[in-house]
Amino acid sequence: MRTPLIAGNWKMHKTVRFAIELVAGLKRELYDEKETEIVVCPPFTALSPVGEIVQGSPIKLGAQDLYWESEGAYTGEISAPMLKEVGCSFVIIGHSERRRLFKETNETVNRKITAAISSGLTPIMCIGETLEKREQGVTDEVLRKQLDASLERQSDSNILKCVIAYEPVWAIGTGRTATPEQAGSAHAVIRLWARERYGKAVSDALRIIYGGSVTPQNVKELMAVADIDGALVGGASLDAASFCRIVRYNR
Ligand code: 13P
Repeated sequence: MRTPLIAGNWKMHKTVRFAIELVAGLKRELYDEKETEIVVCPPFTALSPVGEIVQGSPIKLGAQDLYWESEGAYTGEISAPMLKEVGCSFVIIGHSERRRLFKETNETVNRKITAAISSGLTPIMCIGETLEKREQGVTDEVLRKQLDASLERQSDSNILKCVIAYEPVWAIGTGRTATPEQAGSAHAVIRLWARERYGKAVSDALRIIYGGSVTPQNVKELMAVADIDGALVGGASLDAASFCRIVRYNR
């Protein structure tokens, strides 16, 4: 049984004051949520205050990125032990915005995954095809290539500590959600990849979540797809009421 996971990626939104307001609202609403694992990923500046507020609630804290070294002369970077210290248990790695705008590669993603797992953080590793690749009909190849390279040399036990997020680039922030069929087919490709490489037990246990214009209106039909184990939510996670409705997609 895979526990559903709903994670909010706040991206570069919310100053500390508004982050506190948002998470306080979530905590009030979601204090008794048991069925779904809930994660919020505020910007670095808000991690510590948000981490304090979510203590003792079902809401877990995640970061949006990390650097693979633990400490050193790496101006502007944040390490896994630093994230642990402020209460993080999750970290998003390799989001398409980081790959596209900040030149992250499958190789840097791989190093970051190793660093996250070594510190006891659960990586939410993002992959997904561009519209161009989808229209060329090579989505499955693109996903397999990203999985091969981003997870190269990771052991079975490391894979089991990861969450994979399928985020088609064309669906992010566009209001153009993948249909349940499109998402389901991509998730099936990812699960098959895991099965071929790591065997049935690992692939059955691996959580694969969908991201890209998830809203309270479309979450239920996406979550009804067998291989979709949760959602990585951008825009709709910035409002307490809409994020709560997404978390409670099955009520
Ligand atoms: P939107 O939900 O705003 O499309 O963003 C998705 C995303 O990138 C989550 O990581």
